[in-house]
Amino acid sequence: MPDVSAELDDLTRQADADLAAVNSPAALEQFRIKYLGSKGLLKAKMALIGQAPPDQKKVVGQRLNEVKQHVTAAFDAKQEALADLVGEDGVDVTEPGVRPAVGNRHILMKVVDELTDLFGRMGFSVASGPEVEDEFHNFVALNIPESHPARDPLDNFYLEKRAEGGGQKVGHASAAAGNAAPSTQHSALRLLRTQTSTVQVRVMETHKPPIRVVIPGRVYRPDTVDATHLFMFHQLEALVVDADVTMVDLKSTVMQFVKAYFGPDTKVRFRPSFFPFTEPSAEVDVWFEDKGRWVELGGCGMVHPNVLTTCGVDPEVYSGWAFGFGIERIAMRKYGITDIRSFVENDVRFLRQF
Ligand code: DAH
Repeated sequence: MPDVSAELDDLTRQADADLAAVNSPAALEQFRIKYLGSKGLLKAKMALIGQAPPDQKKVVGQRLNEVKQHVTAAFDAKQEALADLVGEDGVDVTEPGVRPAVGNRHILMKVVDELTDLFGRMGFSVASGPEVEDEFHNFVALNIPESHPARDPLDNFYLEKRAEGGGQKVGHASAAAGNAAPSTQHSALRLLRTQTSTVQVRVMETHKPPIRVVIPGRVYRPDTVDATHLFMFHQLEALVVDADVTMVDLKSTVMQFVKAYFGPDTKVRFRPSFFPFTEPSAEVDVWFEDKGRWVELGGCGMVHPNVLTTCGVDPEVYSGWAFGFGIERIAMRKYGITDIRSFVENDVRFLRQF
């Protein structure tokens, strides 16, 4: 005769342990079938009554009954506990949820943060200016005269039509008079700015040297969209104005930036160039390993004396340097992005990578 009492104790312990692990209505149903079902373990133990000697049958029957009551009571309690977790609408709140898709900061904005952080560590503060500009800040103050091809309506998003006979002319308060200064009379036509260099003018109009700023921002040009062109893109402008600022400062700052941002072995070169607002001027190229060729980051140079004068800065006392680099180009070089359109297509498979 097996030790009925020990066997039933084991069964009780096993049932308690199994029930403790139950955490869903489905698992509870499995438990019920295993122990209390018509082919369950308790039913199977009923055979013990038949096997017991006649004088023991009653005791075994009572023990079995106790175990069954214990398991049933524990089952009922668990069922109630689980029911509390299920809301009135029948929603099982223990079921793992579906995580809502949350966006992340756009890669271009991350790059802007990285750049302003880096230049911040080099002592630059951040400035900004309006995207809707007037011709004075986009052209005149930057030494781009009325007749310059850069002012062609085909190359700019003008927001107003030029009036017959040359448009309205208004004076500009901050335009200093002087031999080298461009006309203080200028057209008030507005346009979407084509370059962040406009903010150089705004900073010099409102701040006395020493000036040391970077200006990240959007610019607009009517270009045909392809893998390397958008009609809206971003530039990072820099402007330093102080006594005795030289081309050496410009070059060493640009080199320092390129090596710090892209890595110490990055190849960079300066090519002589021309911009109306700088003299001398250069273009900066960085070697793109994956393309196997040089890619232009943008232009730079020593701020033209005419620009300083127009903005109320005496070129006899101060000199300055500036650069304007394409932020998309910088981001593409840094993160191995091959098509500029990816930045604006809003494909989450692209955006989630960064
Ligand atoms: N504004 C120029 C452009 O958009 C880039 C540039 C060239 C900016 C030389 C500068 C500079 O500050 O010094 O093409």
